[in-house]
Amino acid sequence: MPENTLTITDNRTGQVYTVPIEDGTIRAMSLRQIKTDAEDFGLMTYDPAFMNTASCRSSITYIDGDKGILRYRGYPIEVLAERCTFLEVAFLLMFGELPTQTDLKSWVNDITHHTMLHESTKKFMEGFRYDSHPMAMFVSTVAALSSIYPEARQVHDVNNRMLQIKRLIGKVPSIAASAYRHNMGFPYVYPDNDLSYTENFMNMLWKMVEPKYVANPTLARALDILFILHADHEQNCGTNAMRSVASAQTDPYLATASAASALAGPLHGGANEEVLKMLDEIGSKENVPAYIKKVKEGHGRLMGFGHRVYKNYDPRAKIIKWTAEQVFEVTGRNPKLDIALELERIALEDEYFVKRKLYPNVDFYSGIMYQAMGFPPEMFTVLFAIPRTAGWLSQWQELINDPEQKITRPRQVYTGYNQREFVPMERRTAILV
Ligand code: CMC
Repeated sequence: MPENTLTITDNRTGQVYTVPIEDGTIRAMSLRQIKTDAEDFGLMTYDPAFMNTASCRSSITYIDGDKGILRYRGYPIEVLAERCTFLEVAFLLMFGELPTQTDLKSWVNDITHHTMLHESTKKFMEGFRYDSHPMAMFVSTVAALSSIYPEARQVHDVNNRMLQIKRLIGKVPSIAASAYRHNMGFPYVYPDNDLSYTENFMNMLWKMVEPKYVANPTLARALDILFILHADHEQNCGTNAMRSVASAQTDPYLATASAASALAGPLHGGANEEVLKMLDEIGSKENVPAYIKKVKEGHGRLMGFGHRVYKNYDPRAKIIKWTAEQVFEVTGRNPKLDIALELERIALEDEYFVKRKLYPNVDFYSGIMYQAMGFPPEMFTVLFAIPRTAGWLSQWQELINDPEQKITRPRQVYTGYNQREFVPMERRTAILV
């Protein structure tokens, strides 16, 4: 019997099957041969929420959740956060290697020259209600770019694909900043090509009447580090949405809008906004034990805690905690930090959290830092979506180039009626009243 195989005995029939094991997985399709009779459809796996199903082969991001390890293309996140810029990391995610000086110059130049929004996109954004959630504006506007660039539908044209990738990475900060300015009632600011990616984003957010915006270098670097940390995170809910939608050969604007929609949820990228609401609700350090007791009794969750994959300290949270300290030296300390630190201290000692391996995740400290920089909580998820766009697009490229991938189409276990006889109107029973 070959070593890398699994032998399955079907106790319904006594039949024995041998299926290959490859990379620690068996192919779900290997189970289809397991049938009770010729009419039987064959065995399937049932895995709601993909708890134990690999949906693709990927060489982009590696996570070891038990050890708290995160690597992009083999490079530890800590090293990338210390030594690279966000656009350098975006290049690494996209092409698999760190850029040379010449490559980086050309990549940055191309992205910088795609930061401008078409005037009709600007007009589209002006139509949003004054108090629209910035994430709703972000998602809708990214989707609307599909109407400006219809050629993006040619997803199998390599050059066309790269053009849309550069456009999207270039334009997401402009859309995010316009959403912010829209809420503030300020005119949108045009990009400034002399500035770096994050400095230009800050320019589009905060420039008022000064002729040239000058970003604080500590804050610009902090934002760049946060962008690096959020750039990719393998097959999470948003990335799975990106791959699933793009598998239908949908254009990258619509697929990215779908991924961003998933990110907007409070259990995903929306958690950073929820952390701030939670810290507001707690109010002061003294109230932390009572809040933790409430969570343990099943009333709500400790937002910014827990992760499907990390069963150890999220490595990104450590870097954010350090970066936040740098930011506070410029902005002054956010008083919510004391509540957060106390929450973390108690939770990490409490049996409930220890037993379930619940540690602070990426969202726990990012909001406190963003608030100190002047962002309202509604903008936090948008700040997550900007760099994640680079990750989504890298995953999209990988999907398109993977000969094994097809349109995504999970199976279901049907639990409804068998064929029924039609019920005429006079014999039906009311459901709504
Ligand atoms: N506070 C209190 N209890 C929790 C928490 C929490 N934050 N997270 C999980 N638990 C408990 C949960 O009640 C369950 O307990 P029991 O076994 O007694 O029923 C156990 O831990 C396992 O939870 P789960 O819901 O089965 O775990 P999951 O892997 O499905 O959920 C999660 C992962 C991130 C959705 C969840 O931990 C959560 O809701 N956290 C709060 C929201 C949050 O911070 N999200 C950001 C995630 S990181 C950024 C990103 O990737 O988007």
